[in-house]
Amino acid sequence: MANDNIIDGKAFAAGLRERIAVETAKLTAEHGIVPGLAAVLVGEDPASQVYVRNKNKQTVEAGMRSLGETLPADTTQADLLAAIDKLNADPAVHGILVQLPLPDQIDPNSVIDAIDPAKDVDGFHLRNVGLLATGRGGMVPCTPLGCRMLLEDRLGDLTGMNAVVVGRSNIVGKPMAQLLLDANCTVTIAHSRTRDLPGVCREADILVAAVGRPQMIGGDWIKPGATVIDVGINRVPAEEEGKMCLVGDVDFDEAVKHAGAITPVPGGVGPMTIACLLRNTLVAACRQNGIEVPDI
Ligand SMILES: NC(=O)c1ccc[n+]([C@@H]2O[C@H](COP(=O)([O-])OP(=O)(O)OC[C@H]3O[C@@H](n4cnc5c(N)ncnc54)[C@H](OP(=O)(O)O)[C@@H]3O)[C@@H](O)[C@H]2O)c1
Repeated sequence: MANDNIIDGKAFAAGLRERIAVETAKLTAEHGIVPGLAAVLVGEDPASQVYVRNKNKQTVEAGMRSLGETLPADTTQADLLAAIDKLNADPAVHGILVQLPLPDQIDPNSVIDAIDPAKDVDGFHLRNVGLLATGRGGMVPCTPLGCRMLLEDRLGDLTGMNAVVVGRSNIVGKPMAQLLLDANCTVTIAHSRTRDLPGVCREADILVAAVGRPQMIGGDWIKPGATVIDVGINRVPAEEEGKMCLVGDVDFDEAVKHAGAITPVPGGVGPMTIACLLRNTLVAACRQNGIEVPDI
């Protein structure tokens, strides 16, 4: 039976991808532009391979061009930077994504800094980080953008709400906090040194968990009626011996009893990340060609 306090990220992401496909088809028909997304994968990390495969498939389904390169694990930093330079200069490439983590011999910051900010569809380049922090647009990191979309779809205007983000990473926690601030929430960022984390979480109308610790956030940390967004993806042993399963950072079975709305894992935030990557690629293709960005 459908439970209406569960936020169905899978369905929302499917709808978003459909809207992106419609706008992509329009861009191609009216301007002859096919948005191109290049993913650069270095090495053979199995989780990265799965992500890049899914991304490639969904890119093509949206009517975009899936480009990109797989480089060997022993690629030097100079060779990777040269590959990025080529993609920066290629007019068929509108978005570039370098899959993290990178092998130890490569400094991820130098690589992120080398991507043309206009093609930085992950939103990790310093210029885009600065634009987000100063409320001036730019490319917004995909996972937090997806979380904001799910929140606004469920709650409408977020103005004045108390939002607590647990986690302060550059790819999720910090940009998530910026987006909630931009949406006029009162924002607290919690982390591993926060005192009385359960008490801080209990103040939240909106609680975003981006920690990477399986089911750390208990049911009694949730203010009754709060909206809970669980970004965590943790692989743990399943009840069936020898099998693994995915759980979030929130103890879903307990939290769902208190929350007004909550994202499940899997099927919550996860599918929004690639959908937002496609959205950013479409936005990048429009901006690079001086075309008005559609409202999606
Ligand atoms: N759905 C998606 O598409 C998607 C995308 C990205 C990430 N994820 C998942 O989201 C989770 C977080 O990812 P991330 O890249 O942000 O992780 P990260 O870089 O490891 O950051 C984790 C954050 O959690 C904080 N933390 C760790 N232990 C804590 C504790 N006991 N109490 C309070 N805070 C604690 C850390 O605090 P300190 O800074 O003090 O160390 C850090 O700020 C992971 O499970 C990841 O797999 C999902």
